[in-house]
Amino acid sequence: MGRVEGKVAFITGAARGQGRSHAVRLAEEGADIIAVDLCQDYETVDYPMASPDDLKETARLVEAQGRRIVTAQADVREAAQLRDALERGIAELGKVDVVVAQAGIAPLHGNPPLQAWTDVVNVNLLGSINAVQASLPHLSEGASVIAVASAAALMSQGMVQNPGTNPGGSGYAWAKRALSDYMHELGRQLAPRSIRANVVHPTNVNTQMLQSKPMYRSFRPDLADPKREDAEPAFRVQQAMPIPYIEAVDISNAILFLASDEARYVTGMQLRVDAGGYLKWHDFHV
Ligand SMILES: NC(=O)c1ccc[n+]([C@@H]2O[C@H](COP(=O)([O-])OP(=O)(O)OC[C@H]3O[C@@H](n4cnc5c(N)ncnc54)[C@H](O)[C@@H]3O)[C@@H](O)[C@H]2O)c1
Repeated sequence: MGRVEGKVAFITGAARGQGRSHAVRLAEEGADIIAVDLCQDYETVDYPMASPDDLKETARLVEAQGRRIVTAQADVREAAQLRDALERGIAELGKVDVVVAQAGIAPLHGNPPLQAWTDVVNVNLLGSINAVQASLPHLSEGASVIAVASAAALMSQGMVQNPGTNPGGSGYAWAKRALSDYMHELGRQLAPRSIRANVVHPTNVNTQMLQSKPMYRSFRPDLADPKREDAEPAFRVQQAMPIPYIEAVDISNAILFLASDEARYVTGMQLRVDAGGYLKWHDFHV
């Protein structure tokens, strides 16, 4: 029996990267999936988003595990689109037990700068809240709500190059901090109903968000046009362990634990999966 056998998970940003990895990992352990993704680019984000074919590939990979999946192209900034997608998924799969608010953008150095700030706050903060709030009426005892924030949420400005002090970069860190605070309060509200709310904070993850021009610029501000080979050594600054990044499945394994009944009394956690990055930059805290 799988670790999340018979559960249904609603995942945003599921067409590729971490979101796809969560969909496949949860399906491997017995869950059915409701997967949404925007599948469109942003003017302020200098790397491409996922495509409709990416979302189809997620569906193929979940079905290859013998599980069911309902997909929708939906924008997390549009609460009505999310509600429609979720309700269609519930009509087909019967319920929702797990919510993973994963969709996000990193418009570091994005232009126009204030539009980059607006976009990142709308997607990473309000979009995550939309995903959670579309789900709340459908959740019951034992459900698990998980938001993916970032190690950047736990760092004070200027501690590291990533994500930077430009509006897109500082908006990214602020949106993730505010999301973490929202989830803390949500956990308090949901605990009497035996519903859990937790945040996962990844360090660098080897996805297209990290392997992108704006991220290379953030980690190598000394170069005019840094490439992957320039950034890779600099990526290591973020972690205490001697690695440039972790893989998407490392986050999926944390999501799997929090989604499962193994974590039935784990709520209000700010769970760092960061190869010791926090230890490197912070003095002792209990
Ligand atoms: N990759 C990293 O180093 C890293 C580190 C910490 C946190 N994160 C967080 O992980 C998430 C990004 O995931 P990833 O690393 O797999 O990157 P990614 O760019 O591969 O995936 C992001 C996905 O979100 C989708 N998306 C973007 N805007 C959307 C919207 N408005 N509505 C619905 N879907 C939308 C994209 O199409 C894409 O499929 C973000 O929330 C990011 O803050 C990433």
